[in-house]
Amino acid sequence: MAHLIVTLPGDGIGPEIMPPTLELLRRLGDFEFEEHLFGGASIDAHGTALTDETLAACRRSDAVLLAAVGGPKWDTTDPHKPRPEQGLLGLRRGLGLYANLRPVKPLPALYDASPLRRERIEGTDLLVVRELTGGIYFGEKTRTETSASDLCSYTSEEIERIARTAFEAARSKVSSVDKANVLETSRLWRQVVSELHAREFPQIELEHVLVDNAAMQLVASPRHFDTILTENMFGDILSDEAAMITGSIGMLPSASLGSDGPGMFEPVHGSAPDIAGQGVANPLAMFLSAAMLLRHGLSLASEATAVESAVERALDAGLRTPDLGGGDGTERAAKAVLENL
Ligand code: NAD
Ligand code: IPM
Ligand code: MN
Repeated sequence: MAHLIVTLPGDGIGPEIMPPTLELLRRLGDFEFEEHLFGGASIDAHGTALTDETLAACRRSDAVLLAAVGGPKWDTTDPHKPRPEQGLLGLRRGLGLYANLRPVKPLPALYDASPLRRERIEGTDLLVVRELTGGIYFGEKTRTETSASDLCSYTSEEIERIARTAFEAARSKVSSVDKANVLETSRLWRQVVSELHAREFPQIELEHVLVDNAAMQLVASPRHFDTILTENMFGDILSDEAAMITGSIGMLPSASLGSDGPGMFEPVHGSAPDIAGQGVANPLAMFLSAAMLLRHGLSLASEATAVESAVERALDAGLRTPDLGGGDGTERAAKAVLENL
């Protein structure tokens, strides 16, 4: 039977990078695609970023492929108005996707496309393991005329399961990133990670790094890192920073996984409203997210490798979208990858 993939193009450049990704997937197997409105597009049609129907469709699927949501049309400081991003958070929570994997491995063809010097980034191969359904993103929010608050809370169970993901993914070292010199949640984080390490993963090296120092180390010596384990918001910020090691935020894919049920696969970047509608968005992070869907979502490892190799060969042959310093548009980029598949 065909694998059922729910596709959520979303907003901005989302609807530009989704169609070539589906074309790529069609070349690789028998997939059934079921598209749903999501984010701002769903707010416009239904008044909410994530309808019950869309959530139910995602639950029924074998995997979810998301492009991006958000944009100035729905930006508001009014807490009572719906926001596209609520759809994304609702889906992550609704599907129990607590583990977000963001691999950062610059391709040799792009060593000189990064704003960081080649000798700094050469050989970097790290994984950001970001906790995705807890922390300050999901705590209670308050707002009055003159004050506001966002609660950051974690349980030891939430910390232990994401830490286990990181230890299992690590080759030799886990760098657990926190702010234990200030935050109580970070002190619990550090304790739970250390205990799990001693109990189940003594063969893996563990270091604790404060998040401000980690942000610096990431650009000063990215090869230092194997697996970065961190909480929701730190992981959000550090992964955008880490994206520049690969040349562009337009290169970084991600997988969001739970303990059972379908995973969700999406590029790390957003809807890029500043370039939407121009046909110049880099589709490679989206293609590489489709590769993660094949590998982690459908256990189609060789098909995943085929996509990754095609991306690499297209870049070797000179493909460069504007974010990488070139002049190729989305369509040209998609064609170049398909030719190398
Ligand atoms: P962004 O990632 O959308 O864009 C940041 C910068 O990177 C922009 O200059 C943009 O043009 C560029 N960029 C991003 N993706 C690119 C691509 N594929 N090719 C070429 N250039 C690319 O971040 P932002 O501008 O801060 O956010 C815009 C909107 O996207 C916001 O509403 C935000 O909430 C949302 N967002 C959504 C997701 C998601 O859906 N997963 C992720 C991040 C941000
Ligand atoms: C990401 C995005 C989201 C996040 C936003 C759009 C809610 O920035 O996936 O990195 O902060 O998790
Ligand atoms: Mn982000």
